[in-house]
Amino acid sequence: MPPLRNLAARDVETLVHPYVDLAAFRETGPLVIERGQGVYVYDSDGKPYIEGMAGLWCTALGYGNEELVEAATAQMRKLSFAHLFTGRSHDPAIELAEKLKEIAPVPISKVLFCASGSEANDSQVKLVWYLNNALGRPAKKKFIGRIKGYHGVTLGAASITGLVNNHRDFDLPLPGFLHAGCPHHYRFAQPGESEPEFATRLAAELDALIANEGPDTVAAFVAEPVMGAGGVIVPPETYFEKVMAVCAKYDVFMISDEVICGFGRLGTAFGCQRLGFRPHAISIAKALSSAYLPIAGVMIPEIVYQALLAESRKIGVFAHGFTYGGHPVSAAVALKALEIYARDQIFEKAAARSPQFQARLKALDRHPLVGEARGVGLVGGLELVADKAAKRSFEPRHGVGARAVLFAEAEGLIVRTVLGDVLTLCPPLVISAAEIDELFDRLTRALDKTLDWVRRERLAQM
Ligand SMILES: Cc1ncc(COP(=O)(O)O)c(C=O)c1O
Repeated sequence: MPPLRNLAARDVETLVHPYVDLAAFRETGPLVIERGQGVYVYDSDGKPYIEGMAGLWCTALGYGNEELVEAATAQMRKLSFAHLFTGRSHDPAIELAEKLKEIAPVPISKVLFCASGSEANDSQVKLVWYLNNALGRPAKKKFIGRIKGYHGVTLGAASITGLVNNHRDFDLPLPGFLHAGCPHHYRFAQPGESEPEFATRLAAELDALIANEGPDTVAAFVAEPVMGAGGVIVPPETYFEKVMAVCAKYDVFMISDEVICGFGRLGTAFGCQRLGFRPHAISIAKALSSAYLPIAGVMIPEIVYQALLAESRKIGVFAHGFTYGGHPVSAAVALKALEIYARDQIFEKAAARSPQFQARLKALDRHPLVGEARGVGLVGGLELVADKAAKRSFEPRHGVGARAVLFAEAEGLIVRTVLGDVLTLCPPLVISAAEIDELFDRLTRALDKTLDWVRRERLAQM
């Protein structure tokens, strides 16, 4: 085996990395992470970093949780694989589905397991199509996502996604996938428009979109309670009550994509509870197992289950499912994670830490580089701008967000940048008060260094 310090060079020659400029990456190489403990990860030189993104918005319980390791090992010893196809079953999947029904924020009839958030959202698309065929309304098939919404990369999920990089040159979105306006007051409200007024306008635009398409052709509306990968976008006050009323008016099925917001991120078990709306179906993944193993699911209401039954009576087999859907080891880990969330009151503790986190985040609004600091619970976004008064963004080619990420890494902090130079923060829910302060101290130093660099490079007048 080649020596460890060659890992970066070996990486460049062997891996295709998601979400990186592949050409630039050939020059920069990877940050190789070797181990983790608590909210810290360590790179291959042993340098510690606060994992300010909980991996990819997912490691809610942090790293090195022995109870999760033990749950996985015990299940792997007992039954390392079993599937749910053709009427077979196993107790971890049954127990996990029972638990999820118990904690669901709306009445849930059944859970369909899969392995990723993308698979969950693709399954939602197919289930809604199936539903409307069963209900005898075969034209009602269109899906509405939102500009800047993120729902994954498989064909259906990427089509619901409203981010240009997920579509451009991938020949997406597929026909029949539409996008409503982005509920970002800072960027898209008209001058003088209050949050409730902006929400009213977005709901009216959604209403017009559905009416123009023909309500009998629009099947579903999909939304994250707080948009994550689009840049941590918190909807304006009254948004969900207004768009939910539009969905109800046109009998449009509403799916809450809780892949990030589910399991305590916003300080409630599910994000829709924090934002005050009641979806028909829910997609879950990530923190379901605290990302110790891949597992995801679609939580479906009785009406969908009855449609599946009706179709089976008509055509026989329900031909959908994934080899690893409800994998017993993943399910055992997820069960343990849910047990820990309840026993250790992880969601309540996240809610209790949230005022400190949000206060430190929002204090950065005063930083010359920050146009808007926004967030809820333990998730936050900082939009970096070249001109605060004019809300003018930096030119994408200057890569200001990416540079800030590098300065943060130098300070021992992992954050992410998404389109529009938005730095995102989403630490493990188990982060302590002292660690929150340390995170923001490091972030502030990184922002100051970014500002010095912006000035040196004359990228803005500040
Ligand atoms: C809201 C949301 N939905 C779906 C997905 C896709 O999940 P996966 O990457 O597991 O396919 C993500 C991933 O970040 C997400 O944030």
